[in-house]
Amino acid sequence: MLATVRPPAELRGSVQVPGDKSISHRALILNAVAAGNARIENLASGADVASTAACLRELGVEVTDQGVAGVGLHGLRAPHGPLDCGNSGTTMRLLAGLLAGQPFETTLVGDESLSRRPMDRVALPLAQMGAHAELHPLRVGGGKLRGAVHEMATSSAQVKSALLLAGIQAEGTTRVTEPVRSRDHTERMLAAMAAPVRVDGNSVEVRRADRLDPLSLRVPGDLSSAAFWIVAAAFHPRAQVALPDVGINPTRAGILRLLPVARIKEGKQGGEPTATLHAATLRGLRPWAWSDRLSAELIDELPVLAVAATQLAGRTVIGGAAELRVKESDRIAAMTAGLQAMGARIEEREDGWEIEGPVRLRGARVDSAGDHRVAMALAVAGLLAEGETEIEGAECVAISYPGFWDDLESLSGTGDA
Ligand code: S3P
Repeated sequence: MLATVRPPAELRGSVQVPGDKSISHRALILNAVAAGNARIENLASGADVASTAACLRELGVEVTDQGVAGVGLHGLRAPHGPLDCGNSGTTMRLLAGLLAGQPFETTLVGDESLSRRPMDRVALPLAQMGAHAELHPLRVGGGKLRGAVHEMATSSAQVKSALLLAGIQAEGTTRVTEPVRSRDHTERMLAAMAAPVRVDGNSVEVRRADRLDPLSLRVPGDLSSAAFWIVAAAFHPRAQVALPDVGINPTRAGILRLLPVARIKEGKQGGEPTATLHAATLRGLRPWAWSDRLSAELIDELPVLAVAATQLAGRTVIGGAAELRVKESDRIAAMTAGLQAMGARIEEREDGWEIEGPVRLRGARVDSAGDHRVAMALAVAGLLAEGETEIEGAECVAISYPGFWDDLESLSGTGDA
């Protein structure tokens, strides 16, 4: 599908972004092995979370639109064939951790993009805990797990979560330490389910759990989806966008420090902080230079922040983001190609970009590389550009934000600039 984006005269309205993808995966997976039923509201609507739900059904768990009927830590049944994780790295890595502790072996497969992504980062530490773990395709399970101390070389919430899910099934204690703390949704949810979990700086420790209490929750809106509207509003000359009930977990909220937005109605949903955000035109922002710490906090926002940097007066250097090379696409290369085609002054570095602004972007035909966040980031570039931007492979937004094109239209109104 080809999407066409034109710069609107103004960006105005309220958008209910989908439920948080990371929290939704965890709500399904942890409740699947909890001791009872959980109601889940506002589950992420995209294809990634649907992949997790489908895999859990293959493992004998009842998952409906209302919630999950937990089968307990020992109640999963061996699937009839390989589990298809689709495009979802979170599904594959978190399930690998859970299934490593089960008495049966499971093969996990995915689409072309997911099949290219590194899985040794979960298979190797799981093997260290005594799991049977093979690669190409990923196959885990059937071993007896023992606790281990993991010092991760690269921060990753997916890997950390996989090891914690194995850890709650292992003999003894499992400790995971990251160089920089990644998103902590798993730790929060395990604690809310009464699992033996302890956080200490950049380390998390778990012990074998006898049971998990089911956790009913309303999933907060996804800040990584809201990020597209925050950037579009910040750099559009006439913008006012309300984003109700969005998650503002501090391990995810780096974007709110770079692009200040008003927060009202701060609250808590499912053990996670939330707020209604009011994004509007920002002026006088200075260029950015940042380190690994910030890149971990806003890893999924980097494609759209690269767009933002084209509008800042001066040179922005984004480093410490080599992980972007092994996401759904090589996001460093995909964003460089798209933004260069639109006239941006952006150069690739091994671990990020150097971007010189401000540049008046011009519409062009650009490629999503089949990557949802690249497609949406280039759409935001199109909202800020002169003329018409055409985005190839636009259907991939359905991975995390199926209503994205409708929301873009509703915020743009009818008037072209
Ligand atoms: C996620 C963790 C991040 C992020 C991904 C979702 C999660 O990946 O990029 O979109 O839900 O744990 P890594 O753990 O590989 O950094």
